[in-house]
Amino acid sequence: MDISTEIEAAAAILRKGGLVAFPTETVYGLGANATSDAAVAKVYAAKGRPQFNPLIAHVAFPDQAFELGAFPPLAQKLGESLWPGPLTIVVPRAALCPVSKLASAGLPSLALRVPRHAKALALLRAFGLPVVAPSANPSGLLSPTTAEHVRQNLGAAVDLIIDGGACPVGVESTVVSFMNGQAELLRAGGIAREELESILGEKLAAPAGQGPVHSPGQLESHYAPSAKLRLNAKAPVAGETYLGFGEHQHGPYNLSPGGDVEEAAANLFRLLHEIDEAGASTIAVAAIPEHGLGEAINDRLRRAAAPRPA
Ligand code: TXA
Ligand code: MG
Repeated sequence: MDISTEIEAAAAILRKGGLVAFPTETVYGLGANATSDAAVAKVYAAKGRPQFNPLIAHVAFPDQAFELGAFPPLAQKLGESLWPGPLTIVVPRAALCPVSKLASAGLPSLALRVPRHAKALALLRAFGLPVVAPSANPSGLLSPTTAEHVRQNLGAAVDLIIDGGACPVGVESTVVSFMNGQAELLRAGGIAREELESILGEKLAAPAGQGPVHSPGQLESHYAPSAKLRLNAKAPVAGETYLGFGEHQHGPYNLSPGGDVEEAAANLFRLLHEIDEAGASTIAVAAIPEHGLGEAINDRLRRAAAPRPA
């Protein structure tokens, strides 16, 4: 299929209420018509995702996002500066927002994002309406950064997978909420904290309060491979497979031989998938610096290492 035929076919599936997996610059998304309750419900079912965990609505243009939500000035500034890009902004739903309330999971808020990937943008433009898209993996498992990951783990549930090769950023979007009068970081991701804070001109706040889950991406045990993980490991012990970084290398796997956190983010899920498929029982992971995308990498590694529900 040439690209425009493939995109047209995908848009037609979305119009009929079907599911399309598509590449973004972060990870592959499992897309559905965000304005259809039935289509959004299918996404939850296909992923086995808890209904209290809301979904991101994706659009082709920042102006579309600004109409779907009530953006305070700083939120608008972030969107104007960083979209298209790996940033998700959580704001109150606009009064006449056509996005299914199922996507908001009962919250008064909506998460919005304009992805920066040619095929994602082509699909969003062809379809015209917002598209909900969680990462295209069964809930709780590793996120997919290739079409093959989607095929293996979710293939049967999806009507079409658009193959865009490997996702260049490799970790999910950064999620920033404006629901509490200040910019709060709900999930570290593909845009570094440092960059956000320099645009905002202020520090990002930690999510307020303990209460109910603000962003269920904050749930412990998430992004889990089958293998166990041991973090900040200087070297593997017997029976472990080592995932190195920079000069810390034992065996064939290294997130970034040059010690670059962006390269490491791009390789993270692919290498975890690969080591998992090779049948490792425990993966010992080198320490990753916390600067730039290192914050998102360390967040995903901690969740992957967290104790799992039986
Ligand atoms: O990079 C990404 O964000 C990818 C690609 C496909 O765009 N999508 C993605 O979606 O990672 P998902 O569903 O796997 O993660 C969305 C995160 C979750 O942590 C969810 O709880 C949070 O965003 N979220 C969505 N809507 C929210 C809302 N209204 N309030 C707070 N958090 C929200
Ligand atoms: Mg996810």
